[in-house]
Amino acid sequence: MFAPPIRRVCTRVPLLRAVYSGCLRRHPIDLEYGTDTSGLVDAPTQRDARFAGQLCPYMGSQPTIIRRALDTLGNVTGYTFVDIGCGKGRPLIVASEYSFALALGYDISANLVRVANANAMKIAQRFPYRPPMRAFAQGVSELQLPAGHVAVFLFNPFGPDLMATLLDKLEAGLASGEIQHLFVIYDNPVCGAVFDRSTYLQRWFAGVFAYDRREVGYGPEIEESVVIWQSRRGARPDVFMDRARRIAVKDSLSASLE
Ligand SMILES: C[S@@+](CC[C@H](N)C(=O)[O-])C[C@H]1O[C@@H](n2cnc3c(N)ncnc32)[C@H](O)[C@@H]1O
Repeated sequence: MFAPPIRRVCTRVPLLRAVYSGCLRRHPIDLEYGTDTSGLVDAPTQRDARFAGQLCPYMGSQPTIIRRALDTLGNVTGYTFVDIGCGKGRPLIVASEYSFALALGYDISANLVRVANANAMKIAQRFPYRPPMRAFAQGVSELQLPAGHVAVFLFNPFGPDLMATLLDKLEAGLASGEIQHLFVIYDNPVCGAVFDRSTYLQRWFAGVFAYDRREVGYGPEIEESVVIWQSRRGARPDVFMDRARRIAVKDSLSASLE
């Protein structure tokens, strides 16, 4: 059913499109841990009318895509993982498998943040030695980023104006020295051009990851493009050849790599 030609035809039928989005089904990570990270939830109405239409709905990213992206970073001991637009916190759960000092999430929806914190408690009870996880009900315009070594994760949370707001905050942290080294990991990098234009950042990685076989059918695609930037400040030596691949934006919800 997920072979590209069959999928192309079937997704033209509204009922089948919902099936293909896959996020309505209970995800294997939830079956394994008893958490709630599945579903499709509309973003709350933005308080600032200028940004209406720039908020993406909640839909969890795929754990294997997050893991493959994090695996490119090397040693993350002492880094703070920060998911901007964390929703129900699936990336926080995955990040807690790594040696991050802390995993933080921020989302504009207080309801989603409540669910994320309940999920985090379940994981902490089951794995008490994992890094602490905490989610906060804050939109990108209000949030204050942590200092030190930081790995920001994004799964298409909002449009270009809000992404520029986030970049301003990251650049201010780098300029003041509060952020000593930064990774920006962008799964489905629809607004990746915003980071490509920054003089504070350089590409670390660009590639396409296939969904794990067990996750096919639980998200809208069968593979995801991921681009990762690192700060010039404290930069690690480059190791990935194809990191400059151009991002092709298909529409406000999907991007691919050329
Ligand atoms: C596609 S979901 C990604 C969820 C999560 N990061 C993941 O990978 O599973 C995008 C999330 O961004 C949140 N969001 C939208 N606009 C936001 C804003 N201005 N500030 C913070 N979060 C926002 C939505 O509520 C939604 O939960």
